[in-house]
Amino acid sequence: MSLKGKRILLGVTGSIAAYKSAFLVRLLVKAGAEVQVVMTASAFDFITPLTLATLSKHPVLSQFQKDETGQWNNHVELGLWADLMVIAPASANTISKIAHGLCDNLLSAVYLSARCAVMIAPAMDLDMYRHPSVLESMGKLRSYGNLILEAESGELASGLSGQGRMMEPERMVEAIHAFFSKAKDFQGKKVLITLGPTQEAIDPVRFISNHSSGKMGKAIAEAFAARGAEVFVVAGPTSQHFSEKIRVTHVRSAADMYEACQKIHSGMDLCIFAAAVADYAPANPAKQKIKKSSAELTITLAKNIDIADALGKAKSPNQIHVGFALETENEIAHASEKLSKKNFDLIVLNSLQDRGAGFQGDTNKVTLIHASGQRKTSELLPKSQIAELILDEIKNVPVWV
Ligand code: CTP
Repeated sequence: MSLKGKRILLGVTGSIAAYKSAFLVRLLVKAGAEVQVVMTASAFDFITPLTLATLSKHPVLSQFQKDETGQWNNHVELGLWADLMVIAPASANTISKIAHGLCDNLLSAVYLSARCAVMIAPAMDLDMYRHPSVLESMGKLRSYGNLILEAESGELASGLSGQGRMMEPERMVEAIHAFFSKAKDFQGKKVLITLGPTQEAIDPVRFISNHSSGKMGKAIAEAFAARGAEVFVVAGPTSQHFSEKIRVTHVRSAADMYEACQKIHSGMDLCIFAAAVADYAPANPAKQKIKKSSAELTITLAKNIDIADALGKAKSPNQIHVGFALETENEIAHASEKLSKKNFDLIVLNSLQDRGAGFQGDTNKVTLIHASGQRKTSELLPKSQIAELILDEIKNVPVWV
């Protein structure tokens, strides 16, 4: 696929990996893209604007003012011009600044003004890359819908070895191709996503819940939104933040979640049941706080409504339902059973056996099982990439095809 007609704004920051930006510009221009480069002042220490201007065939911008006459480089215009902004390499300094809305140079001003998708390719030493502050900033950028092109592992400029090397330009160009080729493949589709845990009241101050963070569901919601779908999230209590274009209904209990889903289910093209719904709830939650009196306290639990199962019964032939299963033994058999019982078209099996996969983390490893029995297992990947895989696989469901 060519990138002809695509306008790409490349932000280059101060990192030794800036030399790779020259290769990136060359590959993008060769693929037909129009490339405009914005550099930070410290990027000048690593690569000259002459190199990037020659390769991109456009003057490189770095200052707000063009010259002494008061003419200025309009960051808003630049932000609106681009179909895609790529910051490569993105230093820890720039990542932290843009995550927090700081705006003291042209590049960060363009970032804040850009309405297009943004890809960020971090490059730094391994200890910087795993510092909680950098991880938190990258998490924030993800929550704004930006795509992080994860750094690769290998030898670093410091002589140390580990994760921190900027993604190779060839792989970045693949990601850019993939972005444009499937950019809007869910346009016109309405998607319901349940996510997070539910909380089942014991009394007015206590509840039963689970460790679900809502991260996987959030990644799926953002992926659908980025690929053009109209996204409706029904979220149990979670600390996740969603992009503005996603409509979120916050709920607490399984019963509330069911009510919110049931209202909109018939108008949806796709339903993704990513919530970790509590299977049981206290049968008679106390109206007042339970006082400690006897040595033992017995709480009787009653089965909650199974949201996926109930809506699966109401599913129309042109709707697609995707479920999740978390299993610890006989995983494929149990997940396949759930798939047919709950009328899913596709089930995403999480195995707790795999390190790095599961509830709270940022990575996951899944097996995707179709109603036909066909299945695929992923690598251990960031949840954002797992979300893309799930969306890609949905397009292989017979109803979609
Ligand atoms: N689910 C749901 N409502 C429930 C329970 C589960 O919508 N009350 C959905 C989940 O969102 C998930 C799928 O059903 O997509 C599987 O949930 P899971 O809890 O793993 O399966 P259960 O059927 O509850 O079986 P078990 O807990 O016995 O494994």
